[in-house]
Formats: sequence, structure tokens, C-alpha cells
Amino acid sequence: MSDSPTLPELIDMQIRTTGPMSVATYMGLSLTHPHKGYYKGADPLGAKGDFITAPEISQMFGELLGFFFVNLWQQMSQPKEFTLLELGPGRGTLMADMLRVACRAEGFRDALDLRLFETNPSLMAEQNARLEAYDPKWIDGFDKVGPGPLLVVANEFFDALPIRQFVRTDQGWHERMVGLIDDKRAFGLSPTPLPASAMPDAVAHAPPNSIYEVAFAGSEVMARLAGTISTQGGAILAIDYGYATTQTGETLQGVRRHAYADVLESPGDTDLSAHVDFDALGIAAKKAGLAVQPLVSQGQFLDRLGLGDRAKALALANPASAGDIAAARKRLTAPDQMGELFKAFCAASPGLVPPAFSA
Ligand SMILES: C[S@@+](CC[C@H](N)C(=O)[O-])C[C@H]1O[C@@H](n2cnc3c(N)ncnc32)[C@H](O)[C@@H]1O
Repeated sequence: MSDSPTLPELIDMQIRTTGPMSVATYMGLSLTHPHKGYYKGADPLGAKGDFITAPEISQMFGELLGFFFVNLWQQMSQPKEFTLLELGPGRGTLMADMLRVACRAEGFRDALDLRLFETNPSLMAEQNARLEAYDPKWIDGFDKVGPGPLLVVANEFFDALPIRQFVRTDQGWHERMVGLIDDKRAFGLSPTPLPASAMPDAVAHAPPNSIYEVAFAGSEVMARLAGTISTQGGAILAIDYGYATTQTGETLQGVRRHAYADVLESPGDTDLSAHVDFDALGIAAKKAGLAVQPLVSQGQFLDRLGLGDRAKALALANPASAGDIAAARKRLTAPDQMGELFKAFCAASPGLVPPAFSA
């Protein structure tokens, strides 16, 4: 048995030693502490894990994304060498489904340099098992991609990056902190307020008690990748839950075993995530010189890519699974399920016309 402190004990020790920590620091430690973070442990996906994602619901999700990327590669005149990078590839299911379809396009597989950005060793092993045939390479920095065009895909990656929270009071905007009250973790406010001028215009004059969340880490990732794409050509597709315009409202949530869980109670054992501010991602991509497509809902995106036809063909080939296929289609696209909450974001080299982003 190991006597090393647990992650909750480590976090509490840090607070006792250096004082309250920002929500971003708390979230970063909870999710990616090198030994004890949530994303360093067992596979969190699927029925036995904490949550399920679109590619795990149906192979159709990845297959349609495969068509999407083949289309972009063809628009770029089928470069002989290009990088396909996935951020947070989970079990490798999305990429396996994408490549099964995409590699039918002549020349695609020979030109492909597959890169994966992943923090979880258990998931890396699963990715390797599913994608070994494509010779994937894991990268730990975005400067480690080849010189050719760069195509990036990210499903439910940006929501897992740390956010900072700011709360409006009569004095200004105070950063929300995690501290200890009677030895129990609790939220509090930093004593020094920031002026309204430090906040984006869309939220600066929100009423007292409003909460503004900002994901500097997400914008940084987008800026880095968009910078590379803007010089080498390519595009980034990010699908996630989130909102179209920067706004106030608390979205930080904890999930454990498919149920909402207290954010502060069990760090390292709870998935923490926040809705993605697509406006902020768009600003970062645009600044780097990319053309940002109008945001579309996941339902619209998949329907426009031909989900209906794909579901029919799949059901015809597997009549015994027709009911499951129809249920999966509904789950991915119905407005009261994943169809509206999840959105597809794309930023691309000017001139490229990413499929399904305009009617
Ligand atoms: C919610 S899961 C989504 C998995 C997969 N994209 C899917 O749709 O099934 C988030 C993924 O991002 C990875 N991840 C989370 N934070 C990360 C980080 N800071 N750096 C690299 N990977 C990260 C997780 O390990 C996991 O693979």
C-alpha cells in the first residue's frame, strides 16, 4: 500500500501552504496532475466509465468526418504529404472510423502523417491498438508537426481544458478561487477586483453576481494550431458543447458515473468540464489569419454531411441493427439530445470551402 498523499490531500496542502488557487489551477490539477489527475487514470469513457461521446454512440459520426476531411484534402489538390492531427482522441474510435472511409480515396493513406495529442496513458494504449496500422505518432507540443498542410480534428477536447472564472460585484470583477473553510474545499473571491475594462465588451457591464468564464488554455491551443495552418495550409474542426457568443453564466460541471457530481468534492475522481466559448476560439483563429466558418449545430452539420443516407445504407446492410442505428441517429441530431447543444466549429485557410458549413 502506498503512503503517498491522495490528490485531494495534495490540493488541500497546496491551499494551506500558498493560499486559495484559481479555478483554472484547481481544474488543471484535478484533470491532469501527472500521477493522480482524472485524465491520468483508467479509461473514463463508455457505459462503465463516466460519460459517452458521439463516436462511441455510432460509427456514422466518424465516417462522415472522414468524408469531410477527404473533401478538404481534395480541395487542397491532394498534397502528397500532410498531417492529420487529433486532439484528445479518446479510445481512437473516431479516427479509426474516419480513416476507414478516408483511406478509400486514392493517395490519401500514402500522404497521411497521423499525429495524436493525448495525455492519458490508458487511452494512448487503446489508440495504439486501434490505429497501429496507420503508424500514429503521439506529440506533446504543437511545433512537432510536419511542414505540409495540417488538418486537425477535436471532439470534446476543448471542454476539458481549464477555465478561469470571474464574478461581478459592485467593486468590479473578482477572480473566483478555491480555498478551505473549516478544512472543507469552498469557492471564494480574490480580494482585488479587476475593472470592467479588463473584461470583453460582451460581459463587462453584466449585473452583480454574474459569472464570466474564460478558457485561456483553449484560446492558446487554437492560436498555436491556427498559426501553423495559416502558413502551411489546412483546417481545424472542433465539435463540442458550448455557446456561439461570449456570455456570462456558470457552466463548470462535474460528472461521475454518468451523473452530475460536486465539482469540489472528489478531485481526480470526477470529470470536470465547461462549455466552450466558440466566439473566443474564433477570435484566436481569425487573428492568425484563418477564415472562421459560421458555427453550425451538430445536428445540422451531420445532416448536411449525409447522416440520413448513411443511416439508411447501414440499416439496409444490417437489418437486425436498424432500430439501434435509428436511435443513434436521433441521439446525435435531435435538438433535445446532442443535436443543438453540441456545435461544429471550423477555421480554415482562406479559399477552402469546408463541407456542411453553409446550406
Ligand atoms: C471527453 S474525452 C473525448 C475523447 C474523444 N475525442 C471522443 O470523442 O470520444 C477528452 C479527451 O481529451 C484528452 N485530454 C483531456 N485533457 C487533455 C490535455 N490537457 N492534453 C491532452 N489530452 C487531453 C482525454 O484524455 C480524452 O482523450
